[in-house]
Amino acid sequence: MSKIQAAITGVHGYVPDYALTNKELETMVDTNDEWIVERTGVRERRILKGEGQGVSVMAIEAVRGLLEKTNTDPSEIDLVICATVTPDMLFPDTANLVADAVGIKNAFCFDLSAACSGFLFALTTGSKFVESGTHKKVIVIGADKMSSIVDYTDRSICILFGDGAGAVLLEPNTEGYGIQDSYLKSDGSGQYYLYQKAGGSRHPATAETVLAKEHYIYQNGRPVYKAAVNGMADVVLKVMERNHLAADDVNWMVPHQANIRIIESVANSAKFPMERVMVNIHKYGNTTAATLPLCLWDYESQLKKGDNLILTAFGGGFTWGAVYVKWGV
Ligand code: UT7
Repeated sequence: MSKIQAAITGVHGYVPDYALTNKELETMVDTNDEWIVERTGVRERRILKGEGQGVSVMAIEAVRGLLEKTNTDPSEIDLVICATVTPDMLFPDTANLVADAVGIKNAFCFDLSAACSGFLFALTTGSKFVESGTHKKVIVIGADKMSSIVDYTDRSICILFGDGAGAVLLEPNTEGYGIQDSYLKSDGSGQYYLYQKAGGSRHPATAETVLAKEHYIYQNGRPVYKAAVNGMADVVLKVMERNHLAADDVNWMVPHQANIRIIESVANSAKFPMERVMVNIHKYGNTTAATLPLCLWDYESQLKKGDNLILTAFGGGFTWGAVYVKWGV
């Protein structure tokens, strides 16, 4: 019997309508469009406005669109994984809320937290359930409402992040399409460079933690930049090498969208021309777990069945990785 692989058989995304431009940020903090574009590549980012609007609002739209597009009845889905660091609530999981909203009743659902690498960690986890033969239709979501943890008086952070959600459907395939290889890494010593200090069990929310702004993202940009460049280049090259892929054999690199300079540097290390690197950071900024599915969604019309894709990400934790996918749609 041929080997069962997990093929991505559909992708869909959702971003809120409101675009926060660099011009508007200039009125909020001491920054300017030129610095932001030159140092990060971001021109605008989408923001989910309104009271009581959690990340699930976007994830629900992405999943609803995915089910419709792939002609899938919600009752057929047997697993939903939502990668996010900005869940609606710490519990119950956002994956559960999404399933409930779209009528998925026969699945088990859970959230996975690996910051900007969340989608790759969730994709790999979901693929194992398909490959083992126990689960047939798995939805993997990457979604974050970064505006809920961004300090809009901190110019080093507020220019970077945006809100969005993307989702893929995984199904068994015996013709060689789907996830071919994953190389995922974690290094807890990175915890000091990128984190949200309060709100967990170590520093539960108090009036003091709120006043001290400890519920916002803290990032020491330079060491994170360096670790991201080195980490992603390392795993991309490793995955290419162990699958005997030269740069010419890979149709698309799909990198996490944190900084255009990081993307260019990783592409350069793998000798990859930028024409074959997916980039949408100018439109959405860094949407954390959503960057990769939003790239796939944006570039979907340019993808052909059998294309070789290398997805790569780096994020808080530290977490990072690369996944080799043979496109199966
Ligand atoms: O997705 C998770 C992983 N995260 C990442 O991969 C992000 C990695 N880090 C980065 O992308 C970059 O470090 C940043 C974009 C966050 C910052 O860029 P940088 O080139 O490392 O800038 P910097 O923090 O070293 O600051 C350079 C200068 C400083 O001024 P002085 O000290 O040289 O006078 C900053 O105060 O730029 C200043 N600066 C700004 N100026 C205008 C910092 N932020 C801004 C700003 N507008 N928004």
